[in-house]
Amino acid sequence: MDIINTKEMSKDDIVAVLDRAAEIEPSDALDGDVLALLFFEPSTRTRMSFDTAMKRLGGDTVDMGSVESSSVKKGETLADTVRVVEGYADAIVLRHPREGAARLAAEFVDVPVINAGDGAGHHPTQTLLDLYTVRDNVAAALGDLHVGIMGDLKYGRTVHSLAFALAKFGARITFVSPPSLRVPENVRTELGRAGIEFKEVDGVDDVIDTLDVLYATRIQKERFPDEKEYEKVAGEYRVTPETLETARDDLVLMHPLPRVDEIAPDVDETRHAKYFEQAHNGVPVRMAVLDMVM
Ligand code: NCD
Repeated sequence: MDIINTKEMSKDDIVAVLDRAAEIEPSDALDGDVLALLFFEPSTRTRMSFDTAMKRLGGDTVDMGSVESSSVKKGETLADTVRVVEGYADAIVLRHPREGAARLAAEFVDVPVINAGDGAGHHPTQTLLDLYTVRDNVAAALGDLHVGIMGDLKYGRTVHSLAFALAKFGARITFVSPPSLRVPENVRTELGRAGIEFKEVDGVDDVIDTLDVLYATRIQKERFPDEKEYEKVAGEYRVTPETLETARDDLVLMHPLPRVDEIAPDVDETRHAKYFEQAHNGVPVRMAVLDMVM
């Protein structure tokens, strides 16, 4: 079983992971198993929480290390790399700058492939920990929520995976971004097909008082073809204590992290801030994922 994107997971699959994550305890369930960590792009949380999760289940990890220090530097193709790594490990976690990389890798190997981010495409396990965090902090059912997703909706893979998953639950979504960074057509089409009510607005001020969750994201500078385009939008869409003045008391503020400038540090002390808790939830959620996949 591979985990490539949330679009291909059913609502039941998602709930099963969240339920498992809520009860999972350290064990020796994966004793003797090895998980390969292949990160062709920078990562802190995803890499370390997969590593921790595997070890908490009694398993081990092998890490390719940086692209700079691997044979990728010599021109090896992704297909060859994963075929070799398949001989060393029982499952592969892959992050790659190219959209579709995880799908491609999965075609070449028999061991499970978990997509840890493919370019501007998808990041399914991030969504699982996002939903876990929402469920932990909001009493209402996922389908009854109004979720604001703000920032770089075009290149942000966490946004795409989250939107697909929320659509399955029937949540209401408001996308907040500059016109140049709206959600891509494929996401729009999918939401339309699911019959999801969604809105697109330029600023959060008019909707903040109706949101259950505000999901802020980083402007994905590394994916901008033109640096000037980046300069135009950098710094907008920043959450400050003023932004939250009219928010509901129980608004949950999330961010996949790393943040650059999107959330002012003085928001960290407010009751809304859940992004560090969210990052910590990466461990139980990825334990549940590994437990189910391996
Ligand atoms: C995200 C990613 O890599 O897509 N980070 C993460 O895994 N938590 C978000 C980002 O880089 O902005």
